[in-house]
Amino acid sequence: MARRPLIAGNWKMNGLKADGVALAKGIAAKMAAEAPRCDMLVCPPATLVDAVAQAVAGSALAVGGQDCHAKTAGAHTGDIAAVALKDLGAAYVILGHSERRADHGESSALVRAKAAAAQAAGLVAVICIGETEAERDAGATLAVVGEQFAGSLPEGANAANTVIAYEPVWAIGSGRTPGIADVAEVHGAIRALAAKALGAEGAAALRILYGGSMKPANARELLALEDVDGGLIGGASLKAEDFWAIAQSCP
Ligand code: 13P
Repeated sequence: MARRPLIAGNWKMNGLKADGVALAKGIAAKMAAEAPRCDMLVCPPATLVDAVAQAVAGSALAVGGQDCHAKTAGAHTGDIAAVALKDLGAAYVILGHSERRADHGESSALVRAKAAAAQAAGLVAVICIGETEAERDAGATLAVVGEQFAGSLPEGANAANTVIAYEPVWAIGSGRTPGIADVAEVHGAIRALAAKALGAEGAAALRILYGGSMKPANARELLALEDVDGGLIGGASLKAEDFWAIAQSCP
């Protein structure tokens, strides 16, 4: 089954309003001028979701959050409800990024609850999984990724409301990436797990992104892999020309 690739930018905690709006508008303008062979998404910091969503409203560029709470409302100081992201015009939310798993102690069970809330609010949950360097060195990559996948995927997940992002923790922001065969192996293993969770058709339609030091120089090779259906891009998504060059690298 043909899966339309998704090229997603995770801006992390970067950008003030004017930069973020200009960056998003620049990408939306490129998409309008030259339709890419992929869907495109930017996930600005929560402070900019409103401004960015307004700036690109009516364009083909989608907007997402970087986290949400598992509850719809209530006494949760500083947290953000999925319905509130949706209300601002977001269509996606990144969940379980390794930086949140590490910085905020997020477990797969919590990620699963957040993903369920996101999907109930009508957002697509971009669920991140990936091993640390120590886990890879110990030969535990597939076990860790399998455990995170099974633990983070909510009951109602399907290929329309869920995207998986495989991000080896040691590849994030390091300039290092796994070998191409290693990426192919992990993505194939995730597809096989998805077949058990979602059925054969669901697994065939599910988008599995690669993330971790993806840039214009390595994107073509990664995106050409059978089970790599796009990228979740950090650093290189902060420069419109690099982000666009990655989108142009989709097969
Ligand atoms: P980099 O592209 O900067 O390595 O970040 C990847 C990432 O964490 C995207 O979520």
